[in-house]
Amino acid sequence: MLDIDLNSPAFFADPYPVYAKLRAAAPICQLMPGIWLATRYRDADRILRDLRFGKDFLAGVARRYGKNAVDEPAFRMVNRFMLLMNPPEHTRLRTLVSKAFSVKQAPELRHLAQRETQRLIDGLYDLHRADLVKAFAYPLPVRVICALLDIQLEDHLRFLEDTQALVKVFELNPISATEIDAANRAAQAFERHFREICRERRKNPGNDLISLLLQAEEGEDRLSEDEIIANVVLLFLAGHETTANMIGNALLTLFRHPEQLDLLRKDLSLLPQAVNECLRYESSVHIAARVAMEDVGVGAVTIRRGETVYINLGAANRDPEIFSAPDRFQIRRPAMPNKPMPFGGGMHYCLGARLARIELETVLDMLFRRLPELRIEDIDNPTWKPTMTIRGLERLQSRW
Ligand code: HEM
Repeated sequence: MLDIDLNSPAFFADPYPVYAKLRAAAPICQLMPGIWLATRYRDADRILRDLRFGKDFLAGVARRYGKNAVDEPAFRMVNRFMLLMNPPEHTRLRTLVSKAFSVKQAPELRHLAQRETQRLIDGLYDLHRADLVKAFAYPLPVRVICALLDIQLEDHLRFLEDTQALVKVFELNPISATEIDAANRAAQAFERHFREICRERRKNPGNDLISLLLQAEEGEDRLSEDEIIANVVLLFLAGHETTANMIGNALLTLFRHPEQLDLLRKDLSLLPQAVNECLRYESSVHIAARVAMEDVGVGAVTIRRGETVYINLGAANRDPEIFSAPDRFQIRRPAMPNKPMPFGGGMHYCLGARLARIELETVLDMLFRRLPELRIEDIDNPTWKPTMTIRGLERLQSRW
């Protein structure tokens, strides 16, 4: 039996030694009856692409919180996310949502990201000191999504709280009854808000993502209002916590490696490579979950029908079989035959990967240009969130 603790402050501060131990000694390990954790890149890649593995969110909810919990508004809404669907429903939703999303081309996304980054830095400039997680990393992706959806600025703050409450339903460790209540209130608030907006955009369509989703069609097929509402909320959730935490992780990682930071500051054309390496080295999403639709052998074990496997993307991205010196942060890493998988793989590969990269490149570019004196405090002992699915910092106290 391996001596591992996936729920201690030491683990959250630095999970990578535990991941290394698991990859070497128990690459598919049983966390509890019916729940497995896969840590090697090749297994992760295979499971993500294997159609015998799928999603069964409500079964997991019933197991953890009891049969009646599946009727809670938060779980019901989340179950309509394409992220939690299997083919053919997933294929249908993904095709329609991608159609609307792909209308937004890279230059327009970059322009939005630059405009919102500029505004946030303008507001912070004269303060000379701030917690960049709270004052910058969290508001930025919400502002960008609000701009894409053409939603008022004053809604940002409420959405921030609501997404943080709702995203908890994805936690590996069961959440409390109070947290479930808060997630329910958030789901209901989102639902009311977006139903109203859908009504208004049907009457006065624009070039925003909600109008595009209302118009998206494939043959005779269109999205229903409930599908649009749930998947707009998904864009908030999927595009918000992930990107916000990734901005913090990227900044901390660069400041912890001053020689790499210097390299980047002297040559900002390295930004796409630097972002890639940050996503590999300290990604903000460490877990993707799948359920076996039938008995499947993976390595030395058999995952039985109905059992869950957590794919540890954070561990896969540091697998020494795939990446040379995986614990070294190198923005000029030689070309890798196997790509890092911060955005997952297979049919659920992140729909917002292009937007996330654009946001990260824009943020680093503009922060380094406009705040050349930027320094991070607490580099050695930062406070990491006590969560495993999402990896991110509680705060990032900074000066400039
Ligand atoms: C650094 C930022 C991001 C990271 C690390 C990330 C990571 C991921 C991962 C790992 C998945 C796959 C989950 C699975 O297989 O179960 C995923 C799916 C998804 N992501 Fe992202 N994401 C990021 C940003 C975004 C953004 C900005 C958006 C959109 C605004 C977005 C929208 C989505 C959607 C809609 C899915 C579900 C796709 C599907 O089920 O077909 N993500 N993301």
